[in-house]
Amino acid sequence: MIKNKLVKNANKIDSFIKDFINRQKKSLLVTPMKYGVLSGGKKIRSSVILAVGKIYKINPTKLYNICGAVECIHSYSLIHDDLPCMDNDKLRRGKLTTHIKFGESTAVLAGNSLLTLAFEMISDEKFKIKNDYKLLIIKKLAECSGHTGIAGGQELDLKYENVKKSFKEIINMQKEKTGKLFSFCCFAVGQVGGKKRSEINKLIKIGEDIGLLFQLADDFLDIKGSSKNTGKSVKKDKKKGKSTIINLLGYENAYKYANNLKKNILKKLTKYGSRANELISLINFILIRKY
Ligand code: IPE
Ligand code: IPE
Ligand code: MG
Ligand code: MG
Ligand code: MG
Repeated sequence: MIKNKLVKNANKIDSFIKDFINRQKKSLLVTPMKYGVLSGGKKIRSSVILAVGKIYKINPTKLYNICGAVECIHSYSLIHDDLPCMDNDKLRRGKLTTHIKFGESTAVLAGNSLLTLAFEMISDEKFKIKNDYKLLIIKKLAECSGHTGIAGGQELDLKYENVKKSFKEIINMQKEKTGKLFSFCCFAVGQVGGKKRSEINKLIKIGEDIGLLFQLADDFLDIKGSSKNTGKSVKKDKKKGKSTIINLLGYENAYKYANNLKKNILKKLTKYGSRANELISLINFILIRKY
């Protein structure tokens, strides 16, 4: 059952992150950082990483640093996304958002520190992969997080509020703010596994499409989901004038687009046979999920 698998993976990665932080020197930011990254959240990006690892028969423990780093960056992006200067949200993962709990300045700094912690996790000497591979992974993670990735996409998301944007512009924004980190997840597994450049390039594209599908599903949940299940406020995108595919095409057409995207991703995975089963279950879950 995919939901049990998600919980199992989330617990493993939570422990990895907790142990990593606990080995470091203490600071005032440790409590808000742990609050923002641990206990809560599906850790679905980690499950994607581990499921891609299954395709190449990579020992899961060899991927934990990648998972931990991705979750730190994802949680940092959510802490900042919830700030009053961005989406101004008070509820996240069924708890108060980090800035409501600890104050805005602390939330900004805890977010920044989770971003840099990710790079500590990957450059850690206990993460034993070839140094050449490590360098490529660090470079790609930076690219996917900064102005050509999450941060750039978030800037577009905010600048597109209450402005009429084209289909292409919205899809591009969603690929940047959410697709790029999923793309990194798939890339990094191929890189750890020492796969050929042509294979890694395919993974980059598949990952970006999985991320786009994930963001489309997030937008559906804002309309049809419940706060009880998602652990965050719902029905906010329309109020804020967010440019989404739903607001452009309507729910039914947006869903058709997402379903088609899902089918295209699954088609690309057929060549891996049963080794891709876990990834296929995850992709199916992404579109029907209630949380
Ligand atoms: C929500 O991400 C924000 C998006 C990028 C769509 P998740 O749905 O992965 O959030 P958590 O980590 O499970 O809370
Ligand atoms: C967030 O998208 C994307 C990020 C990269 C943080 P949303 O703003 O739609 O995410 P939620 O709905 O607040 O989780
Ligand atoms: Mg947002
Ligand atoms: Mg938001
Ligand atoms: Mg949303």
